[in-house]
Amino acid sequence: MCGIVAYIGSREAAPILLEGLKRLEYRGYDSAGVAVIHDGKIAVRREAGKLKNLVKAVQAEPLQGSVGIGHTRWATHGEPSERNAHPHASASGDIVVVHNGIVENFLELKEELQQSGVTFRSETDTEVIAQLIEHYAAGGTTLFEAVQSAVGRLRGAHGIVVISSHEPDRIIAARLGNAGGVAIGAGQGEMFVASDMPALLDHTRRMAFLDSGQIALVTRDGFSVRTLEGTAVEVPLQTVDWDAAAAEKGNYAHFMHKEIHEQVRSLGDTMAGRVDFERGEVFLPTLQLTPAVARRIKRVILTACGTASHAGMVGRILIERLARIPSEVDIASELRYRDPIIDRDTAVIAISQSGETADTLAAMDEARRKGAVLWSIVNVVGSQAMRIADGYLSMQTGPEIGVASTKAFTAPLVDLFLLAVLLGKLRGTLPDSERLERVAELRKLPGLVGECLSREESLSKAADALKDVTHCLYLGRGSSMPIAYEGALKLKEISYIHAEAYPAGEMKHGPIALVDKSMPVIALAPRDPWYEKMISQIEQTKARGGTVIAVCTDGDDRIPAMVDFAIPIPYVSWMLSPVLTIIPLQLLAYKTAVLRGCDVDQPRNLAKSVTVE
Ligand code: AGP
Repeated sequence: MCGIVAYIGSREAAPILLEGLKRLEYRGYDSAGVAVIHDGKIAVRREAGKLKNLVKAVQAEPLQGSVGIGHTRWATHGEPSERNAHPHASASGDIVVVHNGIVENFLELKEELQQSGVTFRSETDTEVIAQLIEHYAAGGTTLFEAVQSAVGRLRGAHGIVVISSHEPDRIIAARLGNAGGVAIGAGQGEMFVASDMPALLDHTRRMAFLDSGQIALVTRDGFSVRTLEGTAVEVPLQTVDWDAAAAEKGNYAHFMHKEIHEQVRSLGDTMAGRVDFERGEVFLPTLQLTPAVARRIKRVILTACGTASHAGMVGRILIERLARIPSEVDIASELRYRDPIIDRDTAVIAISQSGETADTLAAMDEARRKGAVLWSIVNVVGSQAMRIADGYLSMQTGPEIGVASTKAFTAPLVDLFLLAVLLGKLRGTLPDSERLERVAELRKLPGLVGECLSREESLSKAADALKDVTHCLYLGRGSSMPIAYEGALKLKEISYIHAEAYPAGEMKHGPIALVDKSMPVIALAPRDPWYEKMISQIEQTKARGGTVIAVCTDGDDRIPAMVDFAIPIPYVSWMLSPVLTIIPLQLLAYKTAVLRGCDVDQPRNLAKSVTVE
């Protein structure tokens, strides 16, 4: 959940580290720190609060040196304070560590070190790592070997970067389990390490990604990798085609706003090269889906967390309808511990923006152990979820920085639609004529999303009506039901308004008791097979004095006459309508949060990648 960056070269390290941390602040933002080696000594600066506090501290007391590490923290052990901020130093101050993950056996290791006379300065689990490395280095081993021994003692999942004043010409980086990535970036006479690509994109596109159980020795001229057991491994450099400018805010006030508007492009990119609109054909070569596998699958499980699981809920409906395969959505944090019934005829599809979500990766491991066909739909290129799957679909959205996921929600909706069409074709459940028609409709989707975005201003009144409420309900049916869940999640995570979502048909089974003047209801009622049902739901809500904000279809005159705020969107058939209905809900959440003065891109208590349980 934290951001890590490291530099070794001939330039001053501190500005590079601070700039890198700025790009990673979305990962954790309760404290930050940097450490730089100069004249055989390591100098550390750390500050509680946002990165700007650290920037001020470094301006006040500049750091010199061309080797260093930096960290932006999302607290797990110990309150967010200067004392608990990373980097953490060993007792002598000669070894300094930044870390992402949780040392599950840290109390046991801490006690062992305390018994041998080590005193601790912080409440963190990370300090144990620094002390443990020093303990092993005291035996006369190299820094690399000491890190190897220390990492071998840790339980849990970790990304770790270490420097030592005794070996100032190297950085050691290690990855154990799934606590987020460790990417090594190659420059000319300089090298970089980071937990996430945006920290590297300004400097290089040539990157290598560590796998679990690998440790890298990084010098100015290159890197070498060994396993924890000491076997040398070749980790190739890959060229990443993400654009550095894509990780900038540009003219937008917030990343979230920019990313909502990027959906016209990201959806176009998601289809590019994968669809022949004239012939109704879909090509997903990275998925490794053969006709034999398509015919063999008897069940599909879509597994994910948060927003990605809502995309899965839409995918389930599409796969069942077009490919006639029984499908279900399993929240990854539940699947991993439930000993689910999965066999080789089950396809497990993991969906993840980051590709590093600990629960999703654990669910994938479980599926792999049980012999499932394992696919992933992932945004971050080179991420663990992409690498451990049998086949993958890459979302093509570019970096998503805002903590609230937006463009990485709509891209997998299209990916899942394409997968459902392809499975339908290969299994013979989707007639050619219907396939042609459905695929042809896809072509206009980016333009229709653009049309929804162009109506942004018309949402201002609805946002104004929401800004002072404490609770609200989101309702939807059919393919709009997952959108109710996603709309409610967007509002609650960035505006802190309690928002609950329900399948609209469930209202009369309890939740309608909540409806009164102070409980706005956001209803999704596009022209689809569930339209009449939604109309009666809205009538029941209005009859109880509730304020209703409704998303409906252009040309509908019934809903605008019934509700307080109507949000019309262009028509598209129900299989693709989730891609449109979510757009006003993303904008509504954004505008409401801005009106409430909330920190939209870095909401309290959250982090972009949840790499701990
Ligand atoms: C989305 O707005 C959330 N912040 C969160 O629910 C997120 O979707 C979830 O943590 C899963 O992340 P992933 O897609 O990177 O796996």
